[in-house]
Amino acid sequence: MVMGWVEAAMKEWQSAAARLAFVIAIVVQAVAAGAGWPQEAGQPRIDEEISKQDKIYRSRGADVPSGYVTGRALSDYAELLASGFCDALGSLSSSDRWLDVGAGDGQAILDYFALTDDRVPAEKCAGLAGRARAVALSIEDRRSDRWRQQADILGGDRLRYLSGQRLRHYSAEELGTFQIITDVYGGFSYTEDLSKFVEKVLSLLDIGGLFYTMVQSVHLEDGKGKLDGSYLTELVDAAGRDVKVCSWLKQTACVKVGCESKSDWDTPTELIKIRKVCSGVSVPPMKLLKYEAGYPPGRRFQLEP
Ligand SMILES: C[S@@+](CC[C@H](N)C(=O)[O-])C[C@H]1O[C@@H](n2cnc3c(N)ncnc32)[C@H](O)[C@@H]1O
Repeated sequence: MVMGWVEAAMKEWQSAAARLAFVIAIVVQAVAAGAGWPQEAGQPRIDEEISKQDKIYRSRGADVPSGYVTGRALSDYAELLASGFCDALGSLSSSDRWLDVGAGDGQAILDYFALTDDRVPAEKCAGLAGRARAVALSIEDRRSDRWRQQADILGGDRLRYLSGQRLRHYSAEELGTFQIITDVYGGFSYTEDLSKFVEKVLSLLDIGGLFYTMVQSVHLEDGKGKLDGSYLTELVDAAGRDVKVCSWLKQTACVKVGCESKSDWDTPTELIKIRKVCSGVSVPPMKLLKYEAGYPPGRRFQLEP
């Protein structure tokens, strides 16, 4: 009799506790949504867009969207990277290393090794003689027959192609260090985690080494080339105010950042050159608020307070 009364009271207490826990969970969710935690609230959509983006990376043959260009020549790199790039590449010796992050077909690296070939037009970056060792890195494997032939001739020590994962998944031991890292419409324009991407790139540079990259449709350092809300990569501070990509990069410890704003190009484009000057690199962190698959994707990041 006494046991039956105790059990009934316990059951009553447990179901009241369960109801209370349920109500607390609902309230917490509502508060979280009201407080505007966009990353968590928007997560399923961001995940969907990242899957769409992966389909673009995996596309082959006729399925490759025409805007997803993977075969730019070294002369295109010379146009799209900050001034001084060709001289810096030309100054590398046989013990130096060049990493191209987001190399696509690796055409720029092939041109670097082929420039002594008379059939190659003497465009910008011509005559470099391909002395350094080069590594092409791409999420998807886009090696051509020409790449395979050239790799056979030069050997794996001078010409390497790495694929199958994003830059952030390689260890420092796997990649080693570099004197020059380039990125033309590569990881910098495509990554979902821009601060970690830059931090990883800088960790792979020797002190004194250079990172050349570029990004289109952004708020330019020189304040010109304004668009009506159609920026592809947007950065905002904790209060939601626009931050320029170069101003953000200049807050990084142990680097010297140079920016060349191209406001008269089809879309405002920033050409960025970063020199690593000491080893304690630390890039101000950001979280991803928006990602829309594309070539390049649309992204919005918020600086952590
Ligand atoms: C549009 S293609 C550009 C290829 C080449 N740079 C060119 O200009 O022709 C984009 C390249 O960036 C690579 N990529 C994008 N995000 C990356 C990441 N986080 N790590 C490594 N590669 C990445 C893709 O796999 C692809 O090789």
